[in-house]
Amino acid sequence: MKKKRSIAILTGGGDCPGTNAVIRAVAKKAIIELGIEVIGIEDGFEGLISRKWRKLHYEDVSGILTVGGTILGTSNKCDPYRYAGENDKTLKFRDVSRMVISNLKKLGVECLVCIGGDGTLTIASKFHKDGVPIVAVPKTIDNDLRGTDVTFGFDTAVSIAAEAIDRVHTTAQSHHRVMIVEVMGRTAGWIALYSGVAAGGDIILIPEIPYHIESVIGKVKGRNRMGKRFSIIVVSEGAKPKGGSVVVRQIVKDSPEQVRLGGISFILGHKIEQETGIETRQVVLGHLQRGGTPTPTDRVLATRLGTKAVEMIEKGQFGYMAGVKGDHIVAVGLEEAAKGPRNVPLGHPLIISARSVGTCFGD
Ligand code: F6P
Repeated sequence: MKKKRSIAILTGGGDCPGTNAVIRAVAKKAIIELGIEVIGIEDGFEGLISRKWRKLHYEDVSGILTVGGTILGTSNKCDPYRYAGENDKTLKFRDVSRMVISNLKKLGVECLVCIGGDGTLTIASKFHKDGVPIVAVPKTIDNDLRGTDVTFGFDTAVSIAAEAIDRVHTTAQSHHRVMIVEVMGRTAGWIALYSGVAAGGDIILIPEIPYHIESVIGKVKGRNRMGKRFSIIVVSEGAKPKGGSVVVRQIVKDSPEQVRLGGISFILGHKIEQETGIETRQVVLGHLQRGGTPTPTDRVLATRLGTKAVEMIEKGQFGYMAGVKGDHIVAVGLEEAAKGPRNVPLGHPLIISARSVGTCFGD
């Protein structure tokens, strides 16, 4: 009897709204259209080391389109090429990639679908080079992956951040304060730029444009002179003053990407209050930006990317990820995503538009 075709799917890195929508799209297309069995690997690559997986039935992926997080679980610590062991604090790294490859062979799947950010996709690219048929879907709220115009999860994060900025306007206006909203994004300013413009931030500080504190203070004072007794500042967690450095919140020693950023808004707030005498408060949005249901835009994008991934499997396009190019979903070489973060270009049209409406970037 002919063996039933099967594929495996995993989610790695930080959770991101729309991940379940991708899992659903991949599994539904595989099951409905092609009769392919889908194996869900639990907790990212960790599941391929500790052999934690389960068959995904149609019912498992039905009703998850709007659900946040990932039904498969994830890990942003597990790199099989540099594996510290789950909860192993000794930090003696070893290469267990052969074990992963052997487990995949035993599973008998024809392809591994990896949904992840740059860390996961870099690992996926290595496995592809080591002979594993891989198809990937890029995922991050930060929108900082190369090879795709946009990532799913970004639109949701921007919506959440913009709503939060809208809400702090109330306090800023009523109390005549400076309100600072700190958003995520690592070394890229996409979330700050888009949410800042969407919510009319007076000052937007992004990692790509190191700021001069004098310029920020000048803008706040200038607004005050004009009778605008409040200011809204949107700052990316990776923003830094010219000649200065980023604010590190935490070092996660057993994570491939060890640095966690955060706290710049407190330093900035203190300085502004000191120099202007205007009461200043800050809100760090943190993981709120990654939680909850994806926006309709992200649900649509996730569905297009997931179905494209299965189409790529059918065409034997391994070593590629589904990426966005203009209005199209295209296959992009996996190594593209591993080339490092995609930052906001200094001449980005949205920066130019924002400057035209008086937004200060601290430069
Ligand atoms: O990459 C997504 C992201 O949310 C970044 O914006 C943020 O810097 C980081 O992950 C936080 O990671 P963790 O959830 O490990 O604190």
